[in-house]
Amino acid sequence: MPHFHFHSVRLVKALLACAMLLASYAGAAEKLANVTILATGGTIAGSGASSTTTVGYTAATVGVERLIAAVPELAKVAQVKGEQVFQIASENMSDAYWLTLAKRVNVLLAQPDVDGIVITHGTDTLEETAYFLNLTVKSKKPVVLVGAMRPGTALSADGPINLYNAVLLAASQDAVGKGVLVAMNDQIHGARDVSKTNTSTPDSFKTPELGMLGYIQGNKPYFYHVSTRKHTADTEFDVSKIDTLPQVDIVYGYANVNPVALNALVAAGAKGIIHAGVGDGSLAAKVTPSLTAARKQGVLIVRASRVGQGIVARNGEANDDELDFVAADTLNPQKARILLMLALTRTSDSKQIQRMFYSY
Ligand code: DGL
Repeated sequence: MPHFHFHSVRLVKALLACAMLLASYAGAAEKLANVTILATGGTIAGSGASSTTTVGYTAATVGVERLIAAVPELAKVAQVKGEQVFQIASENMSDAYWLTLAKRVNVLLAQPDVDGIVITHGTDTLEETAYFLNLTVKSKKPVVLVGAMRPGTALSADGPINLYNAVLLAASQDAVGKGVLVAMNDQIHGARDVSKTNTSTPDSFKTPELGMLGYIQGNKPYFYHVSTRKHTADTEFDVSKIDTLPQVDIVYGYANVNPVALNALVAAGAKGIIHAGVGDGSLAAKVTPSLTAARKQGVLIVRASRVGQGIVARNGEANDDELDFVAADTLNPQKARILLMLALTRTSDSKQIQRMFYSY
């Protein structure tokens, strides 16, 4: 009997050890944050004809489950679920897609079992979607946008590591309350000031002068800056009951500019015009009459700059007080358009809208 007894004791001890190990894994899994990946398309979901195809591939061909399966390491940093919200090349992004995405994000973040969200997205309009969500997400929980400059089929594809970093960031307590973030190329950028600066290289996303927020390195995010402008939980914009956004268009300033495009957009019903002027938002004599006529019709005019960096100062290159125009501050034209669209869902008062451009 003692012999049998000895073995049964060893078996019980081994079973207990396994049970404790499983419990520790389960405990660890329970401790991992719950991150939902919302897939929308883009190069990160793209495929090319060969491993050296880094341009001229097809975006938006791979579904969210395959994106997740391609990075098994995700399971070490978060409890991940995937949803395919839509599947597009992001040059085709639209107000309708934005509203669908923002509403889905807010529903998910209101759930106690969702700790953070990652949105996989084409890089062409990623900065715009990020800023739209920065102004419409009603939560402090992390929302991280991520894309890829190379398709998953390419040598040194950047999608998998970008996705891993984005999920790790969205699962981090350090990312709470920081606004909508962009995780690309091991860097953390804020939605308001990041832009795509190169047509095709992996280091394309930059915040040239106002500065990126930090890095992701060695499985950990490191923040060095925070955004000073209002965002997410502090936003006054609410899209929960909105199905369309006001039409706001952008006109470009250049030497010998032709006001025909501006006149056509106003005639087509634009409620706001972003003038992406040369220099400090300068207005050519050839377009100023069209802008003032549009303003008289009630169209909101924002003076932005095509330059890319710096402040467009109120009453700098034009008498905004007299013309009743709004100055874009440091927002680039495509982001100024987003803020003006949302502002027009709240007010048509140009002074209120100027306040918004100094707040967000
Ligand atoms: N068609 C572009 C887009 O979906 C590809 C660029 C990319 O995703 O990197 O934005």
